[in-house]
Amino acid sequence: MTLSRAKAIFIWGTVISAAIFLYLSYDSLVQMPKRTQEEKLDSHVVAGKWVWQKYNCNDCHTILGIGGYYAPDVTKVMSTRDGEWVTRFLKDPEKVWPNARKMPNLHLQDQEVADVVAFLTWVNGINTNNWPPKPLVATAVTSGSPGETVYKAQGCSACHLLNGVGGKVGPDLSRVGGKRDKAWIEAQLKNPKSHNPNSIMPSFSRLSQKDIDDLADYLAGLR
Ligand code: HEC
Ligand code: HEC
Repeated sequence: MTLSRAKAIFIWGTVISAAIFLYLSYDSLVQMPKRTQEEKLDSHVVAGKWVWQKYNCNDCHTILGIGGYYAPDVTKVMSTRDGEWVTRFLKDPEKVWPNARKMPNLHLQDQEVADVVAFLTWVNGINTNNWPPKPLVATAVTSGSPGETVYKAQGCSACHLLNGVGGKVGPDLSRVGGKRDKAWIEAQLKNPKSHNPNSIMPSFSRLSQKDIDDLADYLAGLR
């Protein structure tokens, strides 16, 4: 290759890459107002963003990838939790979600809680091209029983396989009823450490007794 040819490749390569970069940046910026639902960005939401900063929520949490990795990402938290739950949780995290890793009680004022919920609701509406990705949820199960509904809602399939769908962190549950009875399963759900002191399965003791019952019935029936 001659020197002038190498120069031409370098110069044109740079010019073309820069042009693509600028065009894509421009294109993203043009889409921003629509994708962020700018019209819903009212003073309530802005006040909530200030609360988020004042209490350094992003020391522990991420939103759109920005923040700490200690606590769950909350970009889409309002898709899985309702405002009433988050309001109660922020006022007293340990009481509302015992056995979790324990978010500190930051002693927010009622108005601050309302504002930060408005902020999280607005963030939830941002079109992020489905980022962060959701864990695979069980869709192959089709009995439609109440226990199956709880199984799906609690995201058990993030760790367990059932009829070929789900994660592989925990054992396959497709035939769990063949080796465990209902009482054993109930104990596992309420306190996984009762069977294995080093269990990494989270406790589901925060579920209502009815949900636990339905779930244990459902799993005990899988043979
Ligand atoms: C010291 C770290 C820390 C700080 C600071 C913190 N959190 Fe948390 N947060 C956690 C942890 C850990 C959890 C997981 C549940 C638990 O352990 O209580 C959590 C859970 C949550 C949840 C529920 C998430 C889910 O997936 O259901 C919300 C909503 C939340 N935090 C909002 C906030 C807001 C708003 C602030 C600031 C006002 C904040 N957090 C500050 C650690 C923190
Ligand atoms: C974070 C991962 C994780 C999640 C989420 C999870 N589990 Fe588990 N589960 C495990 C692991 C790991 C085990 C293996 C035993 C142990 O360490 O406790 C287990 C064991 C079990 C067992 C005993 C299976 C056997 O063959 O002995 C049952 C039943 C069970 N889980 C049900 C559930 C249900 C129902 C849910 C949802 C409500 C759930 N798990 C959510 C990780 C998880």
